[in-house]
Amino acid sequence: MMTAKKLYIKTYGCQMNVYDSERMAEAMGGEGYVTTDSPNDADMILLNTCHIREKAAEKVYSELGRYKGLKADKPELKIGVAGCVAQAEGAEIMRRQPMVDLVVGPQSYHKLPQLTARTHNGAKALDTDFPEEDKFEHLKGRPKAKRGPTAFLTVQEGCDKFCAFCVVPYTRGAEVSRPAERVVREAQDLVERGVREITLLGQNVNAYHGHDRGLAGLIRELSKIDELKRIRFTTSHPNDMDDDLIAAHGECEKLMPYLHLPVQAGSDKILKRMNRQHTAEEYLKLIERLRAARPDLHMSGDFIVGFPEETEEDFQATMDLVTAVEYGSAFSFKYSERPGTPAAERPQVPEDEKDDRLQRLQALLVKQQRALQDAMVGRDVHVLFEKSGRLPGQMVGKSEYLHAVHVQAEGISAGDLRAVRIESSGPNSLKGVLLPS
Ligand code: SAH
Ligand code: SF4
Ligand code: F3S
Repeated sequence: MMTAKKLYIKTYGCQMNVYDSERMAEAMGGEGYVTTDSPNDADMILLNTCHIREKAAEKVYSELGRYKGLKADKPELKIGVAGCVAQAEGAEIMRRQPMVDLVVGPQSYHKLPQLTARTHNGAKALDTDFPEEDKFEHLKGRPKAKRGPTAFLTVQEGCDKFCAFCVVPYTRGAEVSRPAERVVREAQDLVERGVREITLLGQNVNAYHGHDRGLAGLIRELSKIDELKRIRFTTSHPNDMDDDLIAAHGECEKLMPYLHLPVQAGSDKILKRMNRQHTAEEYLKLIERLRAARPDLHMSGDFIVGFPEETEEDFQATMDLVTAVEYGSAFSFKYSERPGTPAAERPQVPEDEKDDRLQRLQALLVKQQRALQDAMVGRDVHVLFEKSGRLPGQMVGKSEYLHAVHVQAEGISAGDLRAVRIESSGPNSLKGVLLPS
């Protein structure tokens, strides 16, 4: 019997990469590869990379440097680079790190098996095309193995927005949606394998048009799958939040009351220079409408501080917007110059200024996050249990608001959805007791 070859995949960046890595592992499974948790015993190493900020891209090269010894010891080891750095830098990666055998861009993963086959005897393979076909349909079918209770499902890819700071429109290409019937089929398959919560993914997921009623139509369709208990989606652009999707937050019981809706900045001058195509006021009005539909909606966002020409006054406008919204969670970053994007050409804010603003913004966001989490004490939530906790007899899951909740109880299994009364709030999670079902 032939022994299985081992594949080590390291994933960077967003949830879409997490989903892509799963699908690549499955595709290579069809070629006789099983996944391993360590690069040391691997026959193939695949880095699924992110190009969003300078640091993210640098990490890839330093990681590759660490594999030099492995490749020297085992020349037949194949090393591949996938994801957004692969798309952005292409053949340059092999010039900088000649031990790389394979470079494959995010839209060409269905060709991974055939590209890998081409790398025999030291030959190199490169594919960074944007083909027309749906890469996921052309990947080998997902095996029927049992899965955990939560899963990602990519429904939309690419971005047509061209924010002045962002590489995504260049690395992922134009907006493309997968047809609703394929998404529904994949969701049914996931549910049969034990999944109870699906997070629909897209770089601009609410620009989804694979259903004639958009993302709201798809969500309503998926709601009909009996054993699917929860639906989430991410990431959304404020300008694609249509009336139907706002209404779905009030009407669709399975759609969870948590929304990641990045705004990036609170100053209209900066929003305009970022090419975000909306004002701070419009964003706040939108949240008002969402909260009218679903009063307990928890908001999440992304922020960039130190965008070119951001003054202290502009930054204050971001702080004011955050104060007005009260975020349940958020991600904030220092602006990072990305070659080829319009903002990289503009006068830059000094690094120490960026550091200072990031600290102040994060202090405010952490305070809000904690306040919203603490406000859950005494309330009843529903928890989808995912795994056992560190203490014996403890189970951990997520509430509808995406808070981690620990419960000490017998007889709960991963995948159970149970009512829980919250009793206390710690730094990163809540503790509660099971209510009778
Ligand atoms: N499509 C999503 C997110 C894309 S990237 C959206 O439009 O919201 C995730 C986050 O990375 C962005 O929301 C932004 O906050 C941050 N980001 C993108 N480019 C960046 C850059 N050049 N420097 C710093 N942060 C950046
Ligand atoms: Fe990047 Fe803007 Fe597109 Fe989001 S909407 S992926 S930030 S260009
Ligand atoms: Fe990074 Fe590409 Fe996602 S740049 S954030 S991996 S779309």
